[in-house]
Amino acid sequence: MSYPFKIKSLEAYQAASEKAVKDPEGFWSDVAGSFLWRKRWDTVLNWNFKEPNIEWFKGGKLNVTENCLDRHLGTLGNTPAIIWEPNDPEEHHRVLTYRELYNKVVQFANVLKNNGVKKGDRVCIYMGMVPELAIATLACARIGAIHSVIFGGFSAQSIADRLEDAHAEFIVTCDGAYRGNKEIPLKSVIDDALVQCRFVKRVIVLTRTRTPISMLKGRDVWWEDEIKKVETMGNPDCPAEEMDAEDPLFILYTSGSTGKPKGVVHTTGGYMVYATYSFVNVFQYEQGQVHFCTADIGWITGHSYIVYGPLCAGATSVIFEGVPTWPDAGRFWDVVDKYKVNILYTAPTAIRSLMGFGTAPLVGKDLSSLKVLGSVGEPINEEAWHWFDEHVGRKRCPIVDTWWQTETGGIMISNMAGVTPSKPSYATLPLPGVQPVLVDENGREIEGNDVSGNLCIRFPWPGILRTTYGDHERCRQNYFATYENLYFTGDGCYRDEKGNYRITGRVDDVLNVSGHRIGTAEVENAINMHAGVVESAVVGYPHDIKGQGIYAYVIFDNTHEDDNLTKMDIIQTVSRIIGAIAKPDKIQFVSGLPKTRSGKIMRRILRKIAEGETGSLGDTSTLLDPSVVDEIIKGRV
Ligand code: PRX
Repeated sequence: MSYPFKIKSLEAYQAASEKAVKDPEGFWSDVAGSFLWRKRWDTVLNWNFKEPNIEWFKGGKLNVTENCLDRHLGTLGNTPAIIWEPNDPEEHHRVLTYRELYNKVVQFANVLKNNGVKKGDRVCIYMGMVPELAIATLACARIGAIHSVIFGGFSAQSIADRLEDAHAEFIVTCDGAYRGNKEIPLKSVIDDALVQCRFVKRVIVLTRTRTPISMLKGRDVWWEDEIKKVETMGNPDCPAEEMDAEDPLFILYTSGSTGKPKGVVHTTGGYMVYATYSFVNVFQYEQGQVHFCTADIGWITGHSYIVYGPLCAGATSVIFEGVPTWPDAGRFWDVVDKYKVNILYTAPTAIRSLMGFGTAPLVGKDLSSLKVLGSVGEPINEEAWHWFDEHVGRKRCPIVDTWWQTETGGIMISNMAGVTPSKPSYATLPLPGVQPVLVDENGREIEGNDVSGNLCIRFPWPGILRTTYGDHERCRQNYFATYENLYFTGDGCYRDEKGNYRITGRVDDVLNVSGHRIGTAEVENAINMHAGVVESAVVGYPHDIKGQGIYAYVIFDNTHEDDNLTKMDIIQTVSRIIGAIAKPDKIQFVSGLPKTRSGKIMRRILRKIAEGETGSLGDTSTLLDPSVVDEIIKGRV
């Protein structure tokens, strides 16, 4: 495959960046032109950030799976599309060529249809990292159903909230999932969720762990049985549904600073174009290379850089079921060695946790196939950057530090491997077509270099979210109302003297724990559900491996006797309500919280205390009861 939109030199990068500003429609129309459309679009872009209303390639007709699969059958039919590495290295790995993946996707698309799934229906996918997760995702896209993949670490309550929000009547899951030495009982979690969600009509269950599960008559069916049914029906084909460019492709829930997670909606044409464009350019992908993105498909990184981007580009994409430290801390390197991985895309938290094991796990591993390394999800500290560079890339692989978000669909600010220069802990420069701006609190643009501000984007790009499911006003409020005519990212940012961007972290009440976004309000709500909790306040603090840890200040009624047991109960409550990823790392019982006279919790002070910076608390005179601060400092954990 050739990629006409691939930018191969610094000069070309500059030229593309200029063209994308001067003539965005011409620029994106050229990029989109190399994809497979059933009918070309009528207009490249309609937009305003006020409502917001953003439409890319309106009137264009396509199906994204024809771009990911059908298009490659002639030339890449026998090329591996997916290499699957199981959790247990003793188990046999699997390779699916483009032809095989195509066959499996159309087969499962027929299963979905047989089970009553229609265009526009929402299908929730809650699975471990098995090839069938990608197959189910693509099968939804094939028939125009909107997938909503939920990460396998979320609790029954979180699933129920999402099912209800999306009114998803169909679920695809596994009996269980393997992750390191753990077995996660996925179907049983689904069963708990469905106690509240009687509207769910069908649950399709793939066999993976063969954990004993309950199968409810009339509602639950086995994946394997359903496949047999479509096999005996004869016609193995499943023509792709013709979609409008602006038809929704998927919903992905993500945390904000208030309330429950919101369903970010991405549409078909723009998302596909942007995921593929950014994949090819940032990693400088060359046909035949093996790409290993270590994220879970339950997050946006997996959607864009395990499934859609790589497959549209005809790449070989590795799906890894396990974790980096099991059976030992050399697992990533084994995978790289075994499949001759060329691009390794991972998260700073994984790098930091592997650094802790030293370089011994790297000894004897052949990493010479590596050409490009990537980092995503949170700021990468210089120490981790250098370790990655030295011990993994052996100083011969460019590292791309890719900044983006669930809402952006694809990478926004990043160096392009070997094309634009890298700078440790800097995402560096925007991709051509991305126009970042820094603004002060009043929304005034901060021009020039060597400045800091809140990061916004001034012009739409094809991968931008279109709405939040079922609540467009929430989308407007969250992203487009803070600053007029700008998309607000929620991140703080520094621009150095040369114009390189360095993301400094969230400026709202969103935490980034091991690269996972968690709203402080969500964790507080979960803690407050525990009997005996009167009130709580949650903040982040620097954590050596996770990036940020969760620090919870809790006012408890005076009935508890054993602090430690109560803490464990609170942690258990949070796991039940949200999932293990949101468990507080530290809990401090307090008798009061620092509040202003109007009753607002002064989080700034709580953050400082959690960070251990108790000497620089700033002005506390506006507090209703300043003495509470001393007590909190004394009881710091
Ligand atoms: O704060 C930024 C941080 O992760 C947030 C987005 O989280 P999520 O939607 O879960 O997507 C993560 C994967 C794209 C951002 O608002 N973030 C992401 N990448 C970086 C980053 N912070 C610093 N550097 C990055 N490379």
